Order: sequence, then structure tokens, then C-alpha cells
Amino acid sequence: MQKESQNSYYVPAEDSIFLADYLENQKGRSALDIGTGSGILAKVLSKNFDLVVATDVNIFALKKAHEIITNCICCNAADVLRTSFDLIVCNLPYLPSEELSDPAVDGLHEGVEIPSMIIKSASQRIEKNGKMIFLTSSLANYDILIQLCESLGFVAKIVAKKKLFYEELLLVECVRKT
Ligand SMILES: C[S@@+](CC[C@H](N)C(=O)[O-])C[C@H]1O[C@@H](n2cnc3c(N)ncnc32)[C@H](O)[C@@H]1O
Repeated sequence: MQKESQNSYYVPAEDSIFLADYLENQKGRSALDIGTGSGILAKVLSKNFDLVVATDVNIFALKKAHEIITNCICCNAADVLRTSFDLIVCNLPYLPSEELSDPAVDGLHEGVEIPSMIIKSASQRIEKNGKMIFLTSSLANYDILIQLCESLGFVAKIVAKKKLFYEELLLVECVRKT
């Protein structure tokens, strides 16, 4: 995961590709990509979903994503949305950090403070039989995120791992309990 300059957006990296590949097999009616960056994940989702919405706090990212995705919204997580989705995905900003100097990567305390806020927001916008899939890393205290998802009424499990030189990427899938 690399740091980006302020007037820029997160250029797809190994984490983006890892999650994008996993999303190729997902199908449904509606999907939300939180923190869309360049729009790489939203683009994959648009192959198999009728409606794809992308959000980001970075307007420069949305300008880029809008080249390929129609429904781009500049907002925090899923906060302004009033509809529910079959699938919500997020390549989380997971690096532990003291401050939020780069929202593309900084996750604050133990790499879970910003991710927890995003997950809480997303959890309110999932259809009854829907799910969330997010990417985190061994650099973050991801057990806290898994516990959070369980406490929000989801069954959460790690569905894929990818070892990099300095960290392990993890995909967590959260299915709403019936
Ligand atoms: C690691 S980048 C992932 C970008 C892209 N999805 C990808 O996989 O290449 C995280 C993205 O989340 C966005 N972001 C960070 N905090 C956010 C928040 N609270 N709400 C919405 N987007 C956020 C950042 O601006 C950045 O574009």
C-alpha cells in the first residue's frame, strides 16, 4: 500500500488487484464500492451487478472513477445513502497511524479506527441476505474488525489471504445472520 499526494487518488496496487480478482465471481442486483479510488473495484462489479454505486471522500478519486462509473458520490463511507445493497465492498485504509495525513491509507489506531467507522456505516446499508467483503492486512489488528462485524449481526470469516514481502493481505467476508 503506497502513500499518495493530496491532489491525487490511490493508484491500483497489489491489494486492489487481489480484491478485484475475488470480486469477479460475485453476482447480484446492487453493489456499493466504498472508497472507490480509481474505480477499479466498481468496474469489476459492474460486469455482474445491475446497479453499482461508488463513494469516496476524495473528489480527485471520484473524478477519475467517474470516467468508468456513473454513480459516484463524494461522502463518508455509506453515510448519505438511503438504499440497501446486495454487496458492499471496501479496500480499507488499514495502515496504523497517529494521524489522518493520507486518507487513502491511514487507518488510525491499530489500523482499525477508520475501518471500524466504515464498517459500521456499511452495515446499515446491507440487504437481508446481503454481504460485505473488505480487504485488510496483518499490519492492522483485524481481529477487532471481525469481532465488530459479529457484534453488528454478521458471520465474518477470512476467505482469502495473500502474502506479500512485508505483510499479509486478508479478505474478510461478512454475511448477515438470518
Ligand atoms: C486503499 S484505497 C482503495 C482504492 C480502490 N478501492 C482500490 O482498491 O484501488 C482507500 C480509498 O478509500 C477512500 N476513503 C478513505 N476513507 C474513506 C471514508 N471515510 N469514506 C469513503 N472513502 C474513504 C480513500 O480516499 C481511498 O480512495
